[in-house]
Amino acid sequence: MSTPASSVVRIGVIGAGLMGKEVASAFGRWFALLDCPVRPELVAVCDVNVTALDWFRQVPTVKYFDADHRAQLARADIDAVYIAVPHHLHESLYLDAIRAGKDLLAEKPFGIDLAAARRIRDEAARLGRFVRVSSEFPFLPGVQRAIQIARSGSLGKILSLRNSFLHSSDLDPTKPINWKRQNRFCGEAGVMNDLGLHVAHVPIRLGWKPVRLHAQLQKIYTERPDGKGGTAACDTWDNAVLHCTVDFPGQPGVPLTLETKRMSPTDTNSWEIEILGTDAGVRYSTKHPKTLLTYVRGKEQAWTATDLGFGTPFKTITGGIFEPGFPDILMQMWASFLAERAGVLGDRFGCATPDEAVAHHELWAAALESHRTRTVVTL
Ligand SMILES: NC(=O)c1ccc[n+]([C@@H]2O[C@H](COP(=O)([O-])OP(=O)(O)OC[C@H]3O[C@@H](n4cnc5c(N)ncnc54)[C@H](O)[C@@H]3O)[C@@H](O)[C@H]2O)c1
Repeated sequence: MSTPASSVVRIGVIGAGLMGKEVASAFGRWFALLDCPVRPELVAVCDVNVTALDWFRQVPTVKYFDADHRAQLARADIDAVYIAVPHHLHESLYLDAIRAGKDLLAEKPFGIDLAAARRIRDEAARLGRFVRVSSEFPFLPGVQRAIQIARSGSLGKILSLRNSFLHSSDLDPTKPINWKRQNRFCGEAGVMNDLGLHVAHVPIRLGWKPVRLHAQLQKIYTERPDGKGGTAACDTWDNAVLHCTVDFPGQPGVPLTLETKRMSPTDTNSWEIEILGTDAGVRYSTKHPKTLLTYVRGKEQAWTATDLGFGTPFKTITGGIFEPGFPDILMQMWASFLAERAGVLGDRFGCATPDEAVAHHELWAAALESHRTRTVVTL
């Protein structure tokens, strides 16, 4: 289906790092989508490090290259911005964007802490801007199926819930420090700020609201090479395991485990969910991106492995039997952002909302309190 010119949305990227480039790449193959009624056009890019802008000179639609985000936000021919900068800058840049009249796809964690997230959410609501937060894993076909099963009412009584996001590169003590490993840039919540929305988005959307939690937070290496021949303090939490309690109607006390780890041997970028009930259950991991594991209670104890195809929320040219990956789900997330902004999302999955981002910060604030006081915290 060709997209009418009227449904083109002009996008500016602020922060031309890892994620800024991924977005340009997703827009560059937008023609792979068959049924998205809106098309993004990347028209502007901004970074304080002007050499980072050079990569974007190969993107034919980009006409503005700015070193100051205010210069980009002052341009009238930009409809929405995507801001992917270190966490300590989220609040000021997000507020500047929405006050300049731009809609926003914000990066997680949506402010360096809970107070910042609340201020951004409240200002966006006051000004009536369309704001969503980046979280792409729910757009995987396997995760969409897990969500369907969770909502189907077929699970029986819920036994346990778990969502994990696991990295391993920090196991290498010679890996140099960067802003994600320093509290003043990443935030006191450390790994929860960095990886946490990825494990909180689906539970929050499914209504698994913890009423209590106990957190185990670990700092493994406290110093790292600074990249200049010396060392620098690495003061962020590396691993966080939150043991939460969810009360369902008629079924109190269900355990929900949320895990974010930078030091999880053998995991490069493993996102996993497990939902176990007395009658049925589901397990999915990006380690096996096309395999959905399900069980239905019977005489024998067994998982059934189903090979999923390319059943993404927005249809694509990609063959139905092929496997999806990170670039595909990033594109699906953007399609969802743009379709919802245009009021044509229908019953497809929507991006994380500012309220959901605030709710996830409430968990990390409680986790920090739990660790500090060595107690179970009531939410
Ligand atoms: N959704 C995801 O899967 C995902 C993955 C990685 C990172 N992120 C998030 O994206 C954001 C950025 O992370 P990243 O990995 O791309 O970081 P990065 O360090 O690769 O890039 C950040 C860029 O921001 C630029 N920058 C800093 N201050 C700026 C300013 N005032 N104006 C304009 N540009 C500025 C830096 O020069 C750098 O190029 C973070 O919020 C992070 O949590 C999300």
